[in-house]
Amino acid sequence: MSELAGKVVLVTGAAKRIGRGIALRLSREGARVGIHYSTSEAEARRTAEECGGAPVFRANLEHVAEIERLFGEVGGHFGRLDGLVNNAARFTRFHPLEVTEQDWDFIHSVNLKAVFFCCQQGAKLMLKGGGGRIVNISSLGGIRPWAEHAHYCASKAGVIHMTRALAKALAPEITVNSVAPGVIPFDDLNEHSIPMVRSTPAQRPGTADEIADGVMFFLRSTNFITGQTLAVDGGLSLR
Ligand SMILES: NC(=O)c1ccc[n+]([C@@H]2O[C@H](COP(=O)([O-])OP(=O)(O)OC[C@H]3O[C@@H](n4cnc5c(N)ncnc54)[C@H](OP(=O)(O)O)[C@@H]3O)[C@@H](O)[C@H]2O)c1
Repeated sequence: MSELAGKVVLVTGAAKRIGRGIALRLSREGARVGIHYSTSEAEARRTAEECGGAPVFRANLEHVAEIERLFGEVGGHFGRLDGLVNNAARFTRFHPLEVTEQDWDFIHSVNLKAVFFCCQQGAKLMLKGGGGRIVNISSLGGIRPWAEHAHYCASKAGVIHMTRALAKALAPEITVNSVAPGVIPFDDLNEHSIPMVRSTPAQRPGTADEIADGVMFFLRSTNFITGQTLAVDGGLSLR
């Protein structure tokens, strides 16, 4: 039986794409998955159905009050939390000379602020059960500088360093690690992704299931692995 069997794990942004892939893998491993979504209710319900009738939780993570309500509902439903995968995020492309305050806040409110407060609320719930595992999904963009994404890169670099600080703060009961995806497309490759895939040593894009591999590694690990970032990027961060 998988070490994750029976564990309660919440995945944010789990309706579609990478979050859905992580949730489906967790369900296959026997975990009890919570499916968080914000606007994609139909997709969230479909993912939940495929996860054996998992509960769905709606929250706009821009607002700390919504995050507190979300974790209150998760605690009320499951009575505990063993794992948290902070996957929900936003992605925009603007030259830095054109970024407005609104553009900056649009990205940082979800990619960085929400991840912090989800860690905070998730950790409080985990500590009631003795501890747990947090995995923050960052990005290759938090490791490598992308000229048209300085605002996004800053948010994801923030996630990586915040992961390290929280790992110290929450040890030994809770580990905090990060998975940094490379190019994981769900639509046709475009003029931005084609050159990145060509530069990828693995010579192909990745899949949601490969990101789930990294997440499962950290969720299963002992508390001797914490504060780390695993790039799941076909080697692109080495370029
Ligand atoms: N795909 C890639 O190539 C790639 C590369 C590097 C890193 N990543 C990272 O991997 C993770 C998943 O990527 P993805 O491409 O699958 O993500 P995505 O589809 O762009 O976003 C995932 C989910 O985030 C949720 N979300 C956005 N704003 C929210 C808000 N205000 N409140 C609550 N939820 C919100 C959305 O939920 P709803 O749809 O329910 O509104 C969305 O489905 C992200 O952290 C991303 O930065 C992805």
